[in-house]
Amino acid sequence: MMQNKIISLDEHIIRSQRNLPYASGELSSLLRDIGLASKIVSREVNKAGLVDIAGRADVENQSGDDVQKLDMLANDLLISCLRNSGECCGIASEEEEDFKTIDTHKFSKYVVLFDPLDGSSNIDVNVSIGTIFAIYRRKTFDGECTKYDFLQKGVKQVAAGYVLYGSSTMLVYTTGRGVNGFTLDPSIGEFCLSHPNIEIPKSGKVYSVNQGNYNKYPRGARAYIDHCMNSGYSLRYIGSMVADVHRTLIKGGIFFYPATKSKPEGKLRLLYECNPLAMLIEGAGGKASNGRDRILEIEPHELHQRTPVFMGSPEMVEEAETYIREAELVAT
Ligand code: AHG
Ligand code: MN
Ligand code: MN
Repeated sequence: MMQNKIISLDEHIIRSQRNLPYASGELSSLLRDIGLASKIVSREVNKAGLVDIAGRADVENQSGDDVQKLDMLANDLLISCLRNSGECCGIASEEEEDFKTIDTHKFSKYVVLFDPLDGSSNIDVNVSIGTIFAIYRRKTFDGECTKYDFLQKGVKQVAAGYVLYGSSTMLVYTTGRGVNGFTLDPSIGEFCLSHPNIEIPKSGKVYSVNQGNYNKYPRGARAYIDHCMNSGYSLRYIGSMVADVHRTLIKGGIFFYPATKSKPEGKLRLLYECNPLAMLIEGAGGKASNGRDRILEIEPHELHQRTPVFMGSPEMVEEAETYIREAELVAT
């Protein structure tokens, strides 16, 4: 019996474009280029244990993180794919101190921000890692892109997605009209639609937080963690935001990284981790906040700005926000 029709990522992007009368194909082309870059990164990730690209690169990035060789490789691969895309006039990366203009296409319509490899601490132990990307329409109209083309609220993203290098490689993306997941079939080198129209469960029984930092969290976050433990929820924490958020998206639950005493702004970065994942979570019917305000409404002031983050099933995020609000009332 004929297998159900395979819908490739490219085909899905083209079909989605047909629903956007004003679309002129540039965003579709850019998404396809990111899909290509993801396949190349996936190939390199899957042989990290065999060739000398695991381990530390003996450099630190501007966030003070030890950079892994695979961080740099993924970063370079994504930059070169976006340079050749023709649809992107500038990029910003976790691994680059400042944004980069793409001189050969400085009049193109879009800028791309990305975390080339998320969950780097898991590379050497063969645990799932990912890539996260956000696409914005540039705000300036001529000449080279400026910092202000990148410092836009998450609500201005025209597309966002992640690639999860796990037991299989999956790409999940949204252009604001539904969230769709594609699984890479290595035998044909195509991302094939495997999770159409993902909707996050309204609630769940899994909470995902680094419990080891419990004593460093603010009172409200600690109270919510106590509630999760007393409610018999399961704790699942992989240490790769993409993997923890993907599980939350599919099974329901809440992922959170509160502020700590050493990181009062939180650890996770707004522009290339929290905003794109928040667009996906909200697109699937979930919620994403900093414990009080919607992530997608946070005004960015610098490229590597951090934020506390609570995202996942709407009822669980609302519950966490209630604990945080009540703790603040007690404190006043
Ligand atoms: P990156 O590897 O891009 O720096 O991201 C790592 C992040 C995120 O993926 C994960 O949720 C978090 O760091 C884990 O932090 P802790 O080890 O402090 O829990
Ligand atoms: Mn990351
Ligand atoms: Mn990273």
